[in-house]
Amino acid sequence: MKVVVTRKIPGNGIKMLQDAGYEVVISPHNRPLERQELLNFIQGADAVLGQLTDKVDEEYINAAGSNLKIVANYAVGFDNFDLAALSKHNIVATNTPDVLTEAVAEHTFALIMAITRRLVEADKLAIAQTTSFGPEVMLGTELKGKTLGILGLGRIGSRVAEIGKAFGMNVIYYDVKQNPDFETKVGAVFKSTPEELLKIADIVSIHVPLLPSTRHLINAEHLKMMKKTAYLVNTSRGPVVDEHALVEALKNNVIRGAALDVEEEEPKWALGMVDLENVVLTPHIASATIEARSAMGELAAKNIIAVLSEQPPLTPVKQ
Ligand code: DGY
Repeated sequence: MKVVVTRKIPGNGIKMLQDAGYEVVISPHNRPLERQELLNFIQGADAVLGQLTDKVDEEYINAAGSNLKIVANYAVGFDNFDLAALSKHNIVATNTPDVLTEAVAEHTFALIMAITRRLVEADKLAIAQTTSFGPEVMLGTELKGKTLGILGLGRIGSRVAEIGKAFGMNVIYYDVKQNPDFETKVGAVFKSTPEELLKIADIVSIHVPLLPSTRHLINAEHLKMMKKTAYLVNTSRGPVVDEHALVEALKNNVIRGAALDVEEEEPKWALGMVDLENVVLTPHIASATIEARSAMGELAAKNIIAVLSEQPPLTPVKQ
């Protein structure tokens, strides 16, 4: 059977597929495949280990052909999947939950520390070798006693909340589902609307999936509701934030700063974003640890091996 891997991945995932006896075809390019390249490349596949940059829709399914049994996303997010089309053709869709939770939560905190303690600005200053200790040089904000607002209390949001608690922060959260057990365990307080949270949080950290209901969840109006001293952190999906509205808000000091791992239109930032001093930007690397990226490949491989052996997948995508 033929397994197509649309971009090279680290870890044992590929070897697991080869050891299982499949013909494994790996893209020779270390970049997302162009649409037509992708459609040609997946032809005749029984399984595809694909990237979140691969749009999986009716056209993709037709291009792959009738052997296709599973598309294993090398990501926990699956907004690149047309789930209705996959289910219509009885193709299994899987993702990689859990194995990247720690990596993304730690990166979220790295961004929180970087923006509140102005690490990127300070790094540039240190490299210039013109500034040293000064009572008012590079003043930042402490986290202890501040309010961390979590939008979306899934696996990653929950872990970020726990880390916030370890920093002595007050944790509040909004989610479509209240979680009383988590509230008892971590001491987090539920807010029944995003607006309630936005008005009082010192740091707002976004952990919702990209859905029609979460697109531009943070818009100009919401940014105005936030404290002038607040920071926005996004490690979920870019389109959850109206990036143009955010640039305006940051220019006009509507909020104090933002730290973002995801662009609304990857890999480009909205006009003006990269010229701002009060932002820290990373290029969608929150899950980029050796541990997480290896485990993601292995989990995707296990899902493929299970489905091609007519067993249930380990982590099917849940609609
Ligand atoms: C995901 O898994 O959805 C991340 O965005 C990339 O690892």
